[in-house]
Amino acid sequence: MEVEPTQLKVALIPGTGRIGSRLARRLALANVSVFIGSRSPQKGLQGAHDILASCPHGRVQGGSNQEAAAWGDTIFWNPSGSLEEREELLQSLASHLENKVIIDVTNVMYFFDESQWGQTSSVLLNQKALGVPARWTTAFKATFYKFFDDLPDPNDPQCTFVAGDDEEAIQRTVALVEVIPGFKAIKAGGLANSKIIELLGPRWLFELDTLNAGGNYRSGWKYVW
Ligand SMILES: NC(=O)c1ccc[n+]([C@@H]2O[C@H](COP(=O)([O-])OP(=O)(O)OC[C@H]3O[C@@H](n4cnc5c(N)ncnc54)[C@H](OP(=O)(O)O)[C@@H]3O)[C@@H](O)[C@H]2O)c1
Repeated sequence: MEVEPTQLKVALIPGTGRIGSRLARRLALANVSVFIGSRSPQKGLQGAHDILASCPHGRVQGGSNQEAAAWGDTIFWNPSGSLEEREELLQSLASHLENKVIIDVTNVMYFFDESQWGQTSSVLLNQKALGVPARWTTAFKATFYKFFDDLPDPNDPQCTFVAGDDEEAIQRTVALVEVIPGFKAIKAGGLANSKIIELLGPRWLFELDTLNAGGNYRSGWKYVW
């Protein structure tokens, strides 16, 4: 099953934050059609304008999160805010997101105490909160945003773990990861494995980065076989 990423309509909800804006720009540079969502339509439009300034031939639009959710066939889900605020946003978009592919970039483990680590994951909580079926996957959960400013060496790529329960959604996610130079998608099994994947994310990665890499936020994972 071959997926051509330039045929996809990729909405970033939102496409304005540290990771969302950079993902949007990198996808636009790879000629993927993108929509910059935001709680503020003006901010979404401005985000699109900013990307077009450095990517004049990009297929980039911007507006509200609602417009983004309605337009996209594939969604990158990357809001910040509290758990409740994220869930509220998700539920407000449910009618547009039903059966779509949603690539979850979010992390929540730092909201929980140690007794809950590994018991659930952001994407599993989101899947439940959405309340309608969608095809969720994971990507870039443990990728510091700085990597998108100064890309990894394609000969020595950064890995990101792609989990999901729908094969076509996984293929789309792999294609979108690998359209960005310097990234390799590692198939990571079913969505339940997100409980493991999210433990590799910010909390421990920050600690490792501080202990070993001088806190420069350019450390990450490689899967070797
Ligand atoms: N930063 C990283 O390196 C990195 C790496 C991997 C994963 N992540 C994960 O990606 C997610 C976003 O991180 P980020 O660093 O990009 O965050 P961020 O810079 O704070 O941006 C996230 C965006 O979320 C929206 N937002 C803020 N508060 C909100 C609320 N209360 N309800 C709904 N939307 C809200 C804002 O967009 P609008 O104002 O336009 O709506 C904001 O631009 C987090 O879950 C984080 O763990 C981040």
